[in-house]
Amino acid sequence: MKQNLIFPKGFLWGASTAAHQVEGGTKNDWSEWEKSEKRLKHLKKLKLIEKYGEDNFISGMGTGHYARFDDDFRMAKEMGHNATRFSLEWSRIEPEEGKFDEKELQHYVDVVRAARRNGLEPFVTIWHWPIPLWLRDEGGWESKRMLEYFARFTEQLVSAMGNEVKFWITLNEPQVYTAESYLQGKWPPQKKNLFSYLGVYRRLIEAHIKAYRVIKKAHPEAHVGIASHNIHFDASRTNLVGQVLKAVADWWWNFYFLNRISEYEDFIGLNHYFHHRIGSWFNKNDNKLLSDVGWEIHPESMYHVLMDLKRFGKPIYITENGLADSTDAKRPSFIVETLERIHRAIENGADVRGYLHWSLMDNFEWAEGFWPRFGLVEIDYKTLERKMRPSAHLYRDICLHNGVTGTLMEKYENLLK
Ligand code: BGC
Repeated sequence: MKQNLIFPKGFLWGASTAAHQVEGGTKNDWSEWEKSEKRLKHLKKLKLIEKYGEDNFISGMGTGHYARFDDDFRMAKEMGHNATRFSLEWSRIEPEEGKFDEKELQHYVDVVRAARRNGLEPFVTIWHWPIPLWLRDEGGWESKRMLEYFARFTEQLVSAMGNEVKFWITLNEPQVYTAESYLQGKWPPQKKNLFSYLGVYRRLIEAHIKAYRVIKKAHPEAHVGIASHNIHFDASRTNLVGQVLKAVADWWWNFYFLNRISEYEDFIGLNHYFHHRIGSWFNKNDNKLLSDVGWEIHPESMYHVLMDLKRFGKPIYITENGLADSTDAKRPSFIVETLERIHRAIENGADVRGYLHWSLMDNFEWAEGFWPRFGLVEIDYKTLERKMRPSAHLYRDICLHNGVTGTLMEKYENLLK
């Protein structure tokens, strides 16, 4: 690296989590699904229980973050962060339809305050996938009353913590949730139905708009957006079929939702993980450099997705980006190389204002369970002890220098080989 890559003044640096993945003790549609007969049978059939053990697939105590949030934020502060992203657990706050638990609301007010006390700007995600059991029983996102429920839930949040939250993320990755839960049938409620998929997608658009209005009515100064999961669809210029597939995939997967809500969002939250090489069809990777879960490591993609988002003319916060890497051998250079691409995109006009790595700590990786290690901080699941990985030290220096400098590269030379 020839020059120092210094980021704009006030750039936000941090890491993200989601309630069900770290809190522990959640009781929602996911936790019940984890324990269901159907799920266990499936795991046994694929011999996954043999491979990883039954506990791997049960979110259980998570990382104990529900009780340890204050310590975890202190740790994030020591790690040089000045921002954090977490989600609120709907099933705790509204355990029965229409009955809101004041104690749990207060818990999340305390979480927001703890973040601020530790110098972290909180990005609060309202919904990061699980839903309360009563809502599951009413049909979840397919329930006709869903919009009313979501708006009412948002109202409660705004009245409890609206004065203290600047950044709201209404929904996490509507694209991924609908595809996994309603099209591919892998996640609860395990439907494989095109009409359900499209219906839920539409409902999520409406839910965002409603929640946006609720928040902005009470707090016009709030910044509201979603976390969109954008993929770099990559087709060579000479591959005409590929170019058509790319155009369709970009239109539907990357931009449709954002286009529909463009008048109702103050920023774009970008979650970025994937590079799809398109030949005559989609292909996730070309098996070169892979993370522990088999995803291609391709930092250059970040540049393309950011440049593509410029069209919306909104500030962009990267709300997730990272990789499963239990030995931490690949994470250090992944972080540096990705930040180089973000810096280049900023130089070329992308209004990127923050980077939140996924994840602050190892966590429960949905259907995969605990084995994939996405954390800057390693969790010992027996003791719940936290330990900064080498990449967390590197990232700390990056945060504190507001960028990647030559001196820093020298200091971490051994990690970056
Ligand atoms: C989700 C996270 C998840 C991460 C890694 C994102 O799609 O928002 O909850 O852990 O990807 O798979």
